[in-house]
Amino acid sequence: MRIPQGDPCIFVIFGGTGDLMQKKLLPSLFRLASNGSLPQNCQVLGVARDRTLSDAQFRAWARKAIVEAGLSEKNRAWCETCLHYQGVNPADEEDFRLLAARIEAIEAKRGAGDSKRANRILYLALPPGAFEGTIESLGKAGLNKSKGWTRLVIEKPFGRDLASARKLNALVHSYFAESQVYRIDHYLGKETVQNLLAFRFGNALFESAWNRDHIKSVQISVAEQTSIGSRAGYYEHTGALRDMVQNHLTQLLALTAMEVPAAFAADSIRFEKVKVLRSVAPIKPNAVVFGQYAAGREGRKKLPGYQDEPGVAPGSRTETFVAMRLEVQNWRWQGVPFYLRTGKSMPRRSTRIVIDFRKPPVALFRSLDSRGPRRNRLAINLQPDQGFDLSFEVKASGDRFSLQTERMQFRYPPESDSLWDGYETLLLEVLRGDQTLFVHADETEASWRLYAPLLRMRSKPHAYAAGSWGPAAADRLMAASGGDWTI
Ligand code: BG6
Repeated sequence: MRIPQGDPCIFVIFGGTGDLMQKKLLPSLFRLASNGSLPQNCQVLGVARDRTLSDAQFRAWARKAIVEAGLSEKNRAWCETCLHYQGVNPADEEDFRLLAARIEAIEAKRGAGDSKRANRILYLALPPGAFEGTIESLGKAGLNKSKGWTRLVIEKPFGRDLASARKLNALVHSYFAESQVYRIDHYLGKETVQNLLAFRFGNALFESAWNRDHIKSVQISVAEQTSIGSRAGYYEHTGALRDMVQNHLTQLLALTAMEVPAAFAADSIRFEKVKVLRSVAPIKPNAVVFGQYAAGREGRKKLPGYQDEPGVAPGSRTETFVAMRLEVQNWRWQGVPFYLRTGKSMPRRSTRIVIDFRKPPVALFRSLDSRGPRRNRLAINLQPDQGFDLSFEVKASGDRFSLQTERMQFRYPPESDSLWDGYETLLLEVLRGDQTLFVHADETEASWRLYAPLLRMRSKPHAYAAGSWGPAAADRLMAASGGDWTI
């Protein structure tokens, strides 16, 4: 759907001077504005606690953030005409009335005051603890509706467990209809994640083999080279299960395992994803490994342990690594193990989904080649090299008969990684009013239902050296079913 260019619109971004705004939202909005993808009359109002910050100071800060993100220094005109700032104490109702007045004033100045098309996007780029109070205050100030449309964007993590996710959904729904709500999981904005749908359902070849008759196991791995750095304040209360597994890895799981949706439309796709999550069997305690990085090395460089990071409590048990085995109990997947793994401070960044197919059930090659045929393997790389690898068996050239494994490869051009950030895709989808790439209330609850019991049984995490691929216990988990992590 085309974005109506003439319709005025305002992004009201709570957490307007925060990390996400600085690193992702501002650069993405500037890039979209620069290439003409935003409606002409699109304004941005940053909202944060600091009441002393002026529009001019906010614009100067924004200009620096845009340049630091590697974008053009020619951003003055955009910042001067489109950026505004308002200091708001989230607990102060009067501040929200002032905020409403400020939004109306900006709209009026842009000629959108009386327009039925004056549209608003309320974006909560806030720490999770601030969601409830802000939603409540927005609702009480009547900011849940406007003369045009009003959409609410909520960052992850959505809730801390099943009970809090339910409570948050109930609060959201007391002021906003589900059709107004856009729960962000930025993995859904990544090119290859969307391409997974094209690949799975646009190719009869793979879809017909996408089941327990042909697939032996599935691995979904999100390895990060970065450590926690200065994020202990957030991470100490979150951990890898909440930060990565409950959302990003679960979205990858759902898209890999779901049935074909009836249409490329939000309702159909979200319905199928929820069905898969509800089919996952309760996860067994011995099928989960928690880890925490200890001091390690990368070549000659020393890497700190989690406990050495600033702000981490001594003796902290927060996990920075999780590996687990899941079973999806339905016709398609019964008996196929799904392995999920994510960790910080690993040797390199690698996000991939690996599908291991079954070996051909033949004795044909036994007398000719003792190694026999290897499994076909499909690796879907999400980052850093977006694309697909498919391994297959051929006869090695020469007069003797032996088998050899070869690879077919597809790669997106390398610049696609840096040119189009997931956030740009998602911001455009919010403007278009398409919820396909956002998480439905039911999905958040189905996902928490799955992992909440694990939160209670978390024991002391296994130590792994920073710069390694995780604790040995995770290798044992995989080895128990005869496989290994592919990277
Ligand atoms: C965020 C997590 O949601 O995703 C971070 O809070 C993590 O801890 C990040 O580093 C990973 O995103 P990406 O796009 O770099 O894989």
